[in-house]
Amino acid sequence: MAKPFRKYPPVSGKLPVLMHGADYNPDQWLHDPKVLEEDVRLMKLAGCNVMSVGIFAWAALEPEEGRFTFGWLDEVLERLHANGIHVWLATPSGARPAWMSQKYPEVLRVGPNRVRHLHGFRHNHCYTSPVYREKTAAINAKLAERYARHPAVVGWHVSNEYGGECHCPLCQEAFRAWLRAKYGTLEALNRAWWTAFWSHTYTDWAQIESPAPHGENQVHGHNLDWRRFVTAQTADFMRHEVRVLKAVNPDLPVTANLMELYDGLDYRVLAREMDVVSWDAYPLWHKPGADSDADTASWFALNHDLFRSLKGGRPFLLMESTPSQTNWQPVSKLKRPGMHRLSSLQAVAHGADSVQYFQWRKSRGSSEKFHGAVVGHEGHEHTRVFRDVAELGATLRRLADVRGCAVPAEAAIVFDWDNRWAIRDAQGPRNAGMGYEATVHAHYRALWELGVPADVIGSEDAFDPARHKLIIAPMLYMVKPGVGEKVERFVERGGTFVATYWSGVVDENDLCWLGGFPGPLRHVLGIWAEEIEGLYDEDRNGLRVNAAGAAELGLAEGRTYEIRELCELVHAESAEVLAEYIDDFYAGRPALTVRRLGTGRAYYLAGRAMPPFYEEFYGGLVRRLGVRRALDAELPRGVTAGVRTDGDHDYVFVQNFTGGPVKLTLDAREYVDLESGEALAPGSALELPTHGVRVLRRRA
Ligand code: GLA
Ligand code: ZN
Repeated sequence: MAKPFRKYPPVSGKLPVLMHGADYNPDQWLHDPKVLEEDVRLMKLAGCNVMSVGIFAWAALEPEEGRFTFGWLDEVLERLHANGIHVWLATPSGARPAWMSQKYPEVLRVGPNRVRHLHGFRHNHCYTSPVYREKTAAINAKLAERYARHPAVVGWHVSNEYGGECHCPLCQEAFRAWLRAKYGTLEALNRAWWTAFWSHTYTDWAQIESPAPHGENQVHGHNLDWRRFVTAQTADFMRHEVRVLKAVNPDLPVTANLMELYDGLDYRVLAREMDVVSWDAYPLWHKPGADSDADTASWFALNHDLFRSLKGGRPFLLMESTPSQTNWQPVSKLKRPGMHRLSSLQAVAHGADSVQYFQWRKSRGSSEKFHGAVVGHEGHEHTRVFRDVAELGATLRRLADVRGCAVPAEAAIVFDWDNRWAIRDAQGPRNAGMGYEATVHAHYRALWELGVPADVIGSEDAFDPARHKLIIAPMLYMVKPGVGEKVERFVERGGTFVATYWSGVVDENDLCWLGGFPGPLRHVLGIWAEEIEGLYDEDRNGLRVNAAGAAELGLAEGRTYEIRELCELVHAESAEVLAEYIDDFYAGRPALTVRRLGTGRAYYLAGRAMPPFYEEFYGGLVRRLGVRRALDAELPRGVTAGVRTDGDHDYVFVQNFTGGPVKLTLDAREYVDLESGEALAPGSALELPTHGVRVLRRRA
């Protein structure tokens, strides 16, 4: 509790408030200057203070090779500046002009099937191509020379949603060079990849190719290294873009917009290339099912926490979200009244210092003409969506004190990209679905229901009991060197660690740990996992809490929970058994254990338990360990509370995702509603309408 959480400095001193704005594409409307004038009037009405400009503007900036046309952008920036609107200025590498593909086909990406793309679409460059790198450096340098000290510009929006991979000959060479640098010798590579299997031994570096559907794809270490290479090469490309920008003004911050738990890149690596993390959140609200919005909200909460944690807790930016609907999912629902405010403030609750949209104005043609925007095809402000946006702009102004505040998380969930890749590749107990992400979500959801702020850390991050009282590592299949020892020190020094089935199975090369699972975690957990099996969807087992478990966890003795999909047969070595399996030949065998070590404890869950196991299990732990909750109150299911703090004041966001109105009772502290100024005495009743959210201030 003694941790001094404090306020972070603003991303830009030019705009030290919560940012509010959108992707702005004036390059689509240059033929109609009246539209551009009208945009500024509407931006002010909507309470917008920032726009992301030029994201896909390469063709407008360099209509032919080496001929640059900055006049229009000069005017746009001047006009925005004159009206008090700031700018995230983009580098245009997310989509390139046709002349470039025509003249230099090497810039075109090659798919895993080795077919080179034709010109078109976007996000499809080769990140290795010297020509593409030369062209991006040239345009970035021009942009930097001209605008890096422009008073309107608060930072660089580098490219757009980096992603995908290229299998061209240049990338094959780069992959081999990366492998040589990593392994030194082919012997070392062959050993790490276990290539004696099926006679896959390499005898010449030139034999190595990227994974292909019609070629090699069964060597797990190879697949894993390819994913790591793609990350490294993308990060290198970003570094290449940023170097040019920083050369002109090293103080102008850089971000790149990331995507919802994106699988293709290890974002922990990419985040090192940016000053501030930003991401694009597109929750699909109002799906069928009573729990659907709470389910969606907790998944997006997990994402927000991940993006905040990528920079050690520094506030992030919500770079894109839709003001109404998206247009790329099977069914495009509108946000119901209240949902725009609720989902936007949800991001702020988890550490966002901005609410920004895709897009400012709907395009008139092409694939996103029906995607939600602040300004629609009718072109005026008298719309439901515009009013929602303008109201949120006013709210964000009233919440200005929240800007820069930390999220005081004392719990953490471990999520690793290469663990995720390796689990998916494993060809093991349940090819019908191992459900790694869903499992991380199931554990996280319990914390979310309890209103426990959480960080989402990597297994290579610090495990410090002074910072996190509770660290949960669901399905930590890949345990890298040093992690076992680190967990042990964490527990000895008082931390509580929770692990599950399918942990400690492989090392960093995806080679199985020998000598008994969970490998390097075996000692700290005090168990040996002898066998694991997958169950069919309709199979069931269960676990029953015994007397020791009841005492340990504050649960009723005999309480049972369902188990599905994955079960392990484990032996308690130095661990104590808290619950046993109920059915089948598993009956009576350990299903939940604890090992006490030093002043901490390490729990192991041997089978995939079903809710309400997680809420009840973590509820007990959170109570006993005194893990900080945003609010010390009973929260109805589907209602959560988040908190940000500057050390003097806490800002508590009570959010209602139940789909109906709710009532709750505040804890024994005094609160002030940050928007209305209403004082709330200790223990006050709080009513939230459907999709309601309240922001309350209290002394920290
Ligand atoms: C992504 C892109 C945007 C736009 C939106 C639509 O986030 O970055 O350019 O295509 O999706 O939802
Ligand atoms: Zn390539």
